[in-house]
Amino acid sequence: MTNSELSAFSAADLTLEEKASLTSGANFWSTKAIDRVGVPSVFMTDGPHGVRKQTGSGDHLGLDDSVPATCFPPAVALGSTWDPELLVRVGTALGEEAAAEDVAVLLGPGINIKRSPLCGRNFEYLSEDPIVSGVLGSALVRGLQSQGVGASLKHFAANNQETDRLRVSADVDIRPLREIYLRGFQRVVTEAKPWTVMCSYNRINGVYASENPWLLTDVLRGEWGFEGIVVSDWGAVNNRVAGVAAGLDLEMPSSGGRTDAEVVAAVTDGSLDEAALDTAVDRLLQLAVRATAGRNPDAVYSVDDHHALAREVAGRSIVLLRNENGVLPLAADASAGTIAVIGEFARTPRYQGAGSSQINPTRLDTALEELRALAGGRSIEFAPGFSITTDAAAATDAAALTAEAVALAAASDVAVLFLGLPGDEESEGFDREHLELPAVQTELLDAVLAVTSNVVVVLSNGGVVRVSGWADRVQAIVEGWLLGQAGGGAIADVLFGSVNPSGRLAETIPVRLEDTSSYTDFPGEFGHVRYGEGLFVGYRHFDRHDLAVSYPFGHGLSYTTFTYSDASVAPVAGSDASGDLEVRVTVTNTGAVAGREVVQVYSTVEGSTVIRPERELKGFASVALEAGESAEVVVTIRREDLAYFHPIADRWVVEGAAVTFAIGASSRDLRATVSIDLVGDELILPLDADSTIGEWLEHPVVGQVLGAAMASAAGAGGEAGMFGDPAILKMMASMPIGRVASFPNSPISSEALDELINTVNV
Ligand code: BGC
Repeated sequence: MTNSELSAFSAADLTLEEKASLTSGANFWSTKAIDRVGVPSVFMTDGPHGVRKQTGSGDHLGLDDSVPATCFPPAVALGSTWDPELLVRVGTALGEEAAAEDVAVLLGPGINIKRSPLCGRNFEYLSEDPIVSGVLGSALVRGLQSQGVGASLKHFAANNQETDRLRVSADVDIRPLREIYLRGFQRVVTEAKPWTVMCSYNRINGVYASENPWLLTDVLRGEWGFEGIVVSDWGAVNNRVAGVAAGLDLEMPSSGGRTDAEVVAAVTDGSLDEAALDTAVDRLLQLAVRATAGRNPDAVYSVDDHHALAREVAGRSIVLLRNENGVLPLAADASAGTIAVIGEFARTPRYQGAGSSQINPTRLDTALEELRALAGGRSIEFAPGFSITTDAAAATDAAALTAEAVALAAASDVAVLFLGLPGDEESEGFDREHLELPAVQTELLDAVLAVTSNVVVVLSNGGVVRVSGWADRVQAIVEGWLLGQAGGGAIADVLFGSVNPSGRLAETIPVRLEDTSSYTDFPGEFGHVRYGEGLFVGYRHFDRHDLAVSYPFGHGLSYTTFTYSDASVAPVAGSDASGDLEVRVTVTNTGAVAGREVVQVYSTVEGSTVIRPERELKGFASVALEAGESAEVVVTIRREDLAYFHPIADRWVVEGAAVTFAIGASSRDLRATVSIDLVGDELILPLDADSTIGEWLEHPVVGQVLGAAMASAAGAGGEAGMFGDPAILKMMASMPIGRVASFPNSPISSEALDELINTVNV
């Protein structure tokens, strides 16, 4: 059948059994074809930072082989670029590789919020902040889909831990659910229109994501207008029939026909409305149309070009946390003395995390070789310093390795130590238990510091590690995350200064695990994890409690310096204070080399009537400036991002209030503030006998009349006299009006109240 014939095709053309079969996979990676009528199968594969196409047996844990593909930097690194334009390029390159492998849907990006630094899969997620996650996730999807390859935005939703991930209920209040955990998804869905959304394994407030009609239908489709398909995470289906009814279109992987039969039986006995199945089938047919239209049998990509892009992006992901006395960049000049490169990770890089995202790279750079290539004749000697093998028999004696490294450091002019987390400590499938580097590494660092103070630490880690205790004893710290297959070259670029670091932390590095917001509520117990910190996730928590951090959200140094001037805020052209806003600031590169600054804009709603974090990121922009150059940077602030979610009105509300925007280089390096009065959204809540006197008096229509009536009734004496006294009124403001109406001598009778309720709610 041609694609236009397929477009005209619908569920009505299929038998019940065919329809049921279409909504569950054929095998590990494909949907079922329906040969009778020529509906093609759609092929999906992981994702997110490369194409993991398996040609032999399939698995969802990254165990079996896959074809070589470029391993781009994982999300932990991409998040630190704060640069949507760069991520469009990454997405485009991923799309080119997927197209070349005839992959119709690439399973990513993952944009879950990093609620706890212990989440084993934080390396696959972008940020602790929904604006960063949403803006960058949207860029990845746009790039990918520009190549005719669909994205699968995952894991929808509130999948913020690995412990018990297939069953645990994330118990989250509606405001944090909307404002923190769903906000990024909302942005990507509405802005980038992913072909598919992957529902998560877990339950949300008791209901499995895969069978949650509120999540999959009311919010995703009803509110956000999603028109693609919802696919289950691999094995996330608990009750397929309930899933279809809730808005789950596709179960993956195959259930071998078992759940197809359940769907057929449910339609036959009337417990599942056939219309729900038809809706899912029609959406799957549209996916097949899109996949067919997107196919490009001529698609090829250049391994070299993509490796070069992977290096560029890795260089942009590195965060320079500390740089004392200008120790970095290192001079590429033989006369600058000798360099000791210490640490097994310089020779055996950690460049991606374990699990379903594990890519078989087309090549792999090591920092050691790349440093030597850029050293300009400067001598580089290497000592592994510690062993990373898990094979006890093969591990070399730790004391001997330390001694060798210390001797090398003592004989060199500078020691660059490559430290990081062992690969088996962070993976899909389980969470971390602590934030510590292995003791063998911190002991090595101490031993090296005993013989030289000229120490640079390069970190390789997918989730943050504790640096307090040693950070202020070294000259420089280069946060190298997991940087993908070209990360070794990127580290060399940054150390020798051919790349001026511009990465910024998309997550806070706390002083201690005990300081983090979810410390007492992670990973939960007895099947539930309570998100007790509410809105106060990441920097929102540290700022609320005024806690010291090792390095704040948004932090990252450069080899140059920037100043900020002439800040302003105004409605975007052609709009008024009830539309989107633009924050403008002039940034000047005041140093001697070209560099890139990330301008961050944080909002504070003055006198807010609801709980709000002290500061929340609302927009950012990355700008490249030559030495001495100035540029005006414009950051658009979307009105909807200033809204909070009203739990009773069940909608977003912008408060009519003054909003202050703090503009800065990190959440704790704020350089300028500007304010604007916002025009608020109208909010009139229904009132009833349970509404308090205070709520009634605040009502814009009846409030004043009621107040006057109550005050004049006060003149009559008795109980009602209380209402004439503002101090007593203040005490009584929290009483439901219905209770007061039944008091003797109440200024408002029960009958009058009933009448008032009828009038006010029309
Ligand atoms: C992961 C998904 C992945 C899927 C397919 C699951 O275990 O959670 O992120 O896309 O497997 O491999």
